[in-house]
Amino acid sequence: RTKGRLILAAYRLPFKIIQNETGYSLFQNSGGLVSAVLSLAQGQVNTSFDFADKIQWVGYTDNNPEELAGVTLENESFKAHPVFIPPQINEPYYEGFCNDLIWPLFHYFPSLAHFENTNFEAYQEANLLFFEKLKEIIQPNDVIWIHDYQLMLLPDLIRQQFPTNKIGFFFHIPFPSYEIFRLLPTTWRESIIDGILGADVVGFHTNDYVEYFLKAVRMVVGYGNKLHYVNLNNRIVKVDSFPISIDYQKFNDAFDLPEVKHEREQVRATLKEKIIFSVDRLDYSKGLLHRLKGYERFLERFPNWHEKVSFVMVVVPSRDQIEQYQQMKSEIDQTVGRINSSFGKMHWQPIIYQYRSMPFEELVGMYTASDVALITPVRDGMNLVCKEYVASRKDVQGVLILSEMAGAAAELGEALIINPTDAEEIGSAVVRALEMETDEQRKRMEAMQMRLREYDVFAWTNDFFTQMLMIEQEHKKLS
Ligand code: UDP
Ligand code: G6P
Repeated sequence: RTKGRLILAAYRLPFKIIQNETGYSLFQNSGGLVSAVLSLAQGQVNTSFDFADKIQWVGYTDNNPEELAGVTLENESFKAHPVFIPPQINEPYYEGFCNDLIWPLFHYFPSLAHFENTNFEAYQEANLLFFEKLKEIIQPNDVIWIHDYQLMLLPDLIRQQFPTNKIGFFFHIPFPSYEIFRLLPTTWRESIIDGILGADVVGFHTNDYVEYFLKAVRMVVGYGNKLHYVNLNNRIVKVDSFPISIDYQKFNDAFDLPEVKHEREQVRATLKEKIIFSVDRLDYSKGLLHRLKGYERFLERFPNWHEKVSFVMVVVPSRDQIEQYQQMKSEIDQTVGRINSSFGKMHWQPIIYQYRSMPFEELVGMYTASDVALITPVRDGMNLVCKEYVASRKDVQGVLILSEMAGAAAELGEALIINPTDAEEIGSAVVRALEMETDEQRKRMEAMQMRLREYDVFAWTNDFFTQMLMIEQEHKKLS
């Protein structure tokens, strides 16, 4: 049997393609999905499947088709296949259906969700455009791995035309409880569930999300399951949890990179105080305003810490065309301004706030220079930032404060776990973290590092593909 290739489909290609005088330069897109899947492409995809060729990555780019005509987008780790979605479809699809409905709803912000028929139509059209691109590429034996909430209809579109190719689907955001999911109009619910069930293996980050999805399957299309196998009469679909992770070794080794060392020393030389650090995309799910209020409570309750601590809060621009995001940005600006003006001194700013993205060396420099990482999403499918912080602490120091609402909290129980909407609790955790003895820091870090070292991003893929092989055996039993 000839070996197949791995074809990956995700909304975004991993890089923005920018034309310059000498050709093209590539800038990595932000977010956990790109980080995780890119580490796969950069490392060897070491699974029982033994794929032919490099990863084929199908994703959207906002370049014009003419601009990229004749350009081969290929490097040593993957070949990119751009999908061009005209703005009149992409806007209602990406900004509308994906990020003004599914994202808020599935992160438990139903009041921010907008239900528009035309947005759903655009969602269907955009999924079809992805399918058209895939049709040009798919060969027998290729394995297709589809990612995230922007492409929920794609597994079934492929299944209809390529019944024998293996298809995997991974969901990077929370799958909500049925009470939330049922807020979607009936026909949309059915399309979404049928769409996802086109895959052979459907993966989520946590067991809760798996249970919620299985309940939605039962309620919407009437299929039950046995040990997470959904029997669709002619096919079986395996639904399971695969907690996504990071390239642990890369972050741990980065501690000693000269550029990272330099960044760390620079930060330490500039900020003499204890450092609290956070980095997130601009997003209401990240709990940025609650975090600021928690820090404010800390400053109110513990004046002895004034001038002895700096909170470096980096917010990475994201989805800035969408109104909710613009509004939140101005609320953050105002809140930071208010806190700094109430508590700041001529030579001390309690919050150092930056709205920009950070290259890898600078990011790890900050992770390793800071005493505390304050990661407080109100909902997060997994959250990779907290895992990266733990992995990069080769010195086995530093304290992680983590929201119980992040998928990662299930694996990082040695963090100081807090309720992200409780300002008092955040304030208390901050002071506890700042005063924690180095021995205790080491014990907690060690336990978390051991877990992340064992289950890294490569173990994640391997697990997923092992399930894809097992489903093949189940199908054979059926036929
Ligand atoms: N990250 C990034 N650009 C930056 C800073 C960070 O792409 O300027 C990365 C970060 O290293 C992490 C990812 O973005 O891998 C964020 O993933 P997470 O799961 O925490 O949140 P998401 O953005 O996916 O909601
Ligand atoms: C999260 C989502 C991804 C998304 C990323 C960045 O990680 O799970 O699907 O790509 O955020 O968001 P953006 O809207 O810029 O693609």
